Amino acid sequence: MPLYYGIKLKLHPQVYEPAEDTFLLAENLAMKKGDLALDMGTGTGLIALLMARGFRFVLGVDVNPLAVKLAEENARLNGIKNVEFVLSDLFERVSGRFDVVTFNAPYLPGRVEEPIDLALIGGETGREVLDRFIREVPGYLKPGGVVQIVQSSITGVEETLKGLRRAGLDGKVVARKHLFFEDIVLINGYAR
Ligand SMILES: C[S@@+](CC[C@H](N)C(=O)[O-])C[C@H]1O[C@@H](n2cnc3c(N)ncnc32)[C@H](O)[C@@H]1O
Repeated sequence: MPLYYGIKLKLHPQVYEPAEDTFLLAENLAMKKGDLALDMGTGTGLIALLMARGFRFVLGVDVNPLAVKLAEENARLNGIKNVEFVLSDLFERVSGRFDVVTFNAPYLPGRVEEPIDLALIGGETGREVLDRFIREVPGYLKPGGVVQIVQSSITGVEETLKGLRRAGLDGKVVARKHLFFEDIVLINGYAR
């Protein structure tokens, strides 16, 4: 069974397998010790399980039921108890405010035909899921809270920064990794 940053992970063919984008987030987590963290689009649950090391409680969310089930299994496998996973389309079934919210967002344009497509396809333009997330996330951040978004340069980093500004957050690119035909970018948005 593969080990990521000390976490044992069971994988599933219909759930996103941690990759370069996941690792960029994992290596730059805003792990200021805190009370509550939310991992949107949790996939295998890896980011939520890593955040559970620093936060009192972590909520992981995914719209893919297979991801929610797998993340729960991975929490059990690692004996991590201060984490819960829920099936939700973005914030539909989330309440409360968090110190840190993470989202490694889907970004390709297209149509979702099977669960694994949810990991990559962000609607017809590729930005629909991300834009909706950016509009809604300020309502789930505590004052001084941070949102961490991983996306591809293909999806428009400037658009994300503008969207964050419009939503009342101060956005900043904090890490970047060059792959073959794109940059993977980590953007932090700070609540005032
Ligand atoms: C690129 S994968 C990232 C998975 C994991 N966080 C990681 O970094 O390895 C994006 C995840 O977002 C989920 N997702 C896509 N649209 C969503 C939505 N509307 N609400 C919640 N999760 C969503 C997908 O099912 C997928 O698990």
